Amino acid sequence: MDLISIDSLSDADRDGLIGRAIACFEDVRSGKAAPALGDRILFNLFYEKSTRTLMSFATAAHRLGMAVVTLPVEQSSVGKGESLADTARTLGAMRPSVLVIRHQQNGAAEEVADILEAPVINAGDGTNEHPTQALLDAATLVRNFGSLEGKTVAICGDIRHSRVARSNAKLLPRLGATVRVAGPAKLMPDGAPALSVDEAIAGADAVMMLRVQRERLEDELGDAPGEYLRLYGLTPERLASAASDAVVLHPGPMNRGVEIADEVADDRERSLIATQVEMGVAMRMACLELVAGKSVA
Ligand code: CP
Repeated sequence: MDLISIDSLSDADRDGLIGRAIACFEDVRSGKAAPALGDRILFNLFYEKSTRTLMSFATAAHRLGMAVVTLPVEQSSVGKGESLADTARTLGAMRPSVLVIRHQQNGAAEEVADILEAPVINAGDGTNEHPTQALLDAATLVRNFGSLEGKTVAICGDIRHSRVARSNAKLLPRLGATVRVAGPAKLMPDGAPALSVDEAIAGADAVMMLRVQRERLEDELGDAPGEYLRLYGLTPERLASAASDAVVLHPGPMNRGVEIADEVADDRERSLIATQVEMGVAMRMACLELVAGKSVA
């Protein structure tokens, strides 16, 4: 089984992953995580930069007893022009148990999954999807609220370039949540509802802020220093209009002082950003168990 898109997840797998990740989260905290995949090998193939996803897949694999092999893409034969397909064939011939891929091109994970016999997990493909991020976001919210039924999640910022937003917009409604998306007009996908950031955040139960992906922008945003935070960022004043027990999420990396103010990012009561990172390891443990053939409890 591959994990390429939220669309390919059955309801049973989705619920199993969220439940299993929350169990793994508590097991890791209490030192009870068992190395159940001790005979397996994980390959990490990251063409784009990553801290959280790369390290959490490696940590999850180690906690499950797997060996981890990471291709240093910049020092590899990719630099001599080897294609994605030939790289996939080459790595597949080494018979990994699971391959995790991040790539700048939409559809890259699917292309590799079509070549490899081993299960492939999408760790982010271009602006398309980041399914394990959405799953860990959902598990973080379910652990906090108990259920997402009837909850409203505001996703704000650079929606146009965000694979995190795309995967969450598919997953969260399946769990009963209403998703509102908002951001600067230049950073909204064509046809998205024209909601202001203030309207999206008002009364929301969770506010997920997204990084402005300047590396994917064709034209400069042209914002003056401090302007983005003032017009679109999550400040204590904007957060005050959300539900009284509203929580704050950010997939990272954060542009502090741009899409999120320091006081909000570091708010011990409201910010679940560190919990997202911790849940990232737990969710990737659950995903590795699922695709490596272990049953999800
Ligand atoms: N959330 C996320 O994908 O972070 P990294 O780019 O650091 O992996």
